[in-house]
Amino acid sequence: MHPPERPIFEAFPALRGRLPWVALGEWPTPVQPLAPALRAIAPHAEAWVKRDDLSSPVYGGNKVRTLEVLFAEALEAGARRVWSTGAFGTNHGTAALLHAPRVGLRAGLVLFPQPRSACAAENLRVMLAAEDAEVQLLPHWSALPGAMGWVRLRRRAERPFVMVPGGATPRGALGYVSAALELALQVAEGALPAPRKLFLGVGSTCTTAGLLLGLRLAARRGIGFLAPPEVVAVRVTPWPVTAAWRIAALARRASELLHRLSGDPRALVDEATLRAGLRVDGGELGRGYGHPTRRGREAIRRFGALEGLTLDTTYSGKAAAGMLRALRAGLREPALFWSTKSTAPLPAVGDAPPPQALARAWLAGAPRRDAAGARS
Ligand SMILES: Cc1ncc(COP(=O)(O)O)c(C=O)c1O
Repeated sequence: MHPPERPIFEAFPALRGRLPWVALGEWPTPVQPLAPALRAIAPHAEAWVKRDDLSSPVYGGNKVRTLEVLFAEALEAGARRVWSTGAFGTNHGTAALLHAPRVGLRAGLVLFPQPRSACAAENLRVMLAAEDAEVQLLPHWSALPGAMGWVRLRRRAERPFVMVPGGATPRGALGYVSAALELALQVAEGALPAPRKLFLGVGSTCTTAGLLLGLRLAARRGIGFLAPPEVVAVRVTPWPVTAAWRIAALARRASELLHRLSGDPRALVDEATLRAGLRVDGGELGRGYGHPTRRGREAIRRFGALEGLTLDTTYSGKAAAGMLRALRAGLREPALFWSTKSTAPLPAVGDAPPPQALARAWLAGAPRRDAAGARS
């Protein structure tokens, strides 16, 4: 498999032929000034946005980068179906479902209930309507480990490749190591000033861990910045899932994998160094995963002033609220918002209620977008 051009292969040429990778997204994603949308509350802010929401017209967002590595791993293992696991509205599952056929894979989904939202309902409808996908619905997240074991056993003829929620493995994190190098190159080219802080939502920790490592590696090589920006990871799932030590540990394991694959000792970064570049902000979680917050909705409205930037209540709205809070508290240094929720239109699916009683009952109570297109 010929690796597509990605910054990680430029930085570690020995990875070519040793790290399988498939092309799914359109890179680099653009960077844009965010300041015009924030003038009313932070007139002097030097705020920018990295538009990973535009990573693919098929389905964008952060998980496209993770899947470029995980699908390649699945293909190398001879898998024919890739299984995603997550909540009813999972973006990782939706991305996997829509991108898998592009590389000759089928999709399977094991899903558990979450608080209702318009975005989650839109995703669930798409996943349930897919013809070639297998969907298993669980009554509760605690049934997930058993269900994953069941899939591995019962579907072994299809050589299933079962992904953990969010694809949060060291290999999955390499997608965002490359993303951090991509950003560093954009800084080096003068597309934006070197950010001192970078805001994003943290759920399974995969995206944050990859960025943390990639930013450090870029700084070591003097690409874009000499000191890496601080990663401010705004919690959208609770502790201990998003504990700082877990994020730093995943980043360290990704660094060890990179070292093993490339043979380059410059890939190794110790956990304390990685931990020092990370701040986990638990101030926007509200009642928990998937529960909308007032500040999240305000951030969605303000950031939405930027053409085409539609955030969601579960992830990116809360991350944006964390950034707004920092700006209101006087943050003056250049800051970057990493936009992670896809803004690509979803495939049209009918309104017919699904056959599964669990999904029918859940969807019946779910909100819809309002007339202006805003998601609740
Ligand atoms: C839109 C969006 N933003 C942020 C995240 C958080 O990423 P991670 O799970 O890698 O921490 C997710 C996870 O699914 C997501 O869907």
